Amino acid sequence: MQGEARLSPWQLDHRRGNCDLCGVPHAPSLFIESQIQAWKKITDAVHGKGSYIFCQLVALGRVADTGTLRKEGGFEVSAPIPIPMEDGAAGFGALTEEEIYDFMRDFAIAAKNAIAAGFEGVEVYGSNGYQVDQFLQDVRNWRTDQWGGSVENRARFGIEVSKALVEAVWCGTGFRISPWNTWQGMKMADPVPQFPYSVRQLNIDTWGRKTPVLIVGGYKPENVLHAIQHEYKDHNIAVMFGRHIFG
Ligand SMILES: Cc1cc2nc3c(=O)[nH]c(=O)nc-3n(C[C@H](O)[C@H](O)[C@H](O)COP(=O)(O)O)c2cc1C
Repeated sequence: MQGEARLSPWQLDHRRGNCDLCGVPHAPSLFIESQIQAWKKITDAVHGKGSYIFCQLVALGRVADTGTLRKEGGFEVSAPIPIPMEDGAAGFGALTEEEIYDFMRDFAIAAKNAIAAGFEGVEVYGSNGYQVDQFLQDVRNWRTDQWGGSVENRARFGIEVSKALVEAVWCGTGFRISPWNTWQGMKMADPVPQFPYSVRQLNIDTWGRKTPVLIVGGYKPENVLHAIQHEYKDHNIAVMFGRHIFG
């Protein structure tokens, strides 16, 4: 059905009660009871070790895998604007206003389910070239409606998703940004003033003075102390490791 094919696969999953679709193979979802129960085993295990766990929520936008979407039911990639990942890739749509609001609702549903599954909080994956980041940065968003064309408009989607999450769960919510990331075709020529605007709107403008900020990128045991004791000494931060731990 043409109309259906324009909906995000994520949203389709939800409507059909079949939540294994999302444009990337083997991605875990949080839309139906069996998925909540499966996640509960993981959160229980984490809690059993005396630790805590947040759930990071992502929509893929233009980086969804076209082959997977085709297999999942002939769906199209949809994104803020139709810039495929590969030159000449077909079957691509710009998100309609209605689809944008549907995505926000889906974020909120997944967030509620994450809390039901035992997560302490949720985080918007607003970085690394995924859908929220695509809206945020002018390299992947030159819409002319209220979702693009200015600093305020490009920031709107991430901010509205965050508001939807806060309203849905009323507990810890985070937002990940990556102003300097070049992966997946990202990075604005000048990330200022775009990122400081978003950060102010998201009320993390105190940069770790009121709320903790997690810093990641290039840290190793040998340089982490310098970050904590000098670079960010007046800030409430935690330093994270990616590749150093992954191997
Ligand atoms: C295999 C792999 C998977 C990652 N998955 C995520 C992810 O799911 N969410 C996220 O915010 N960052 C993810 N990242 C990015 C890391 O959080 C981090 O920003 C990046 O690796 C740079 O930090 P590093 O220099 O310590 O590796 C991933 C990185 C790698 C290498």
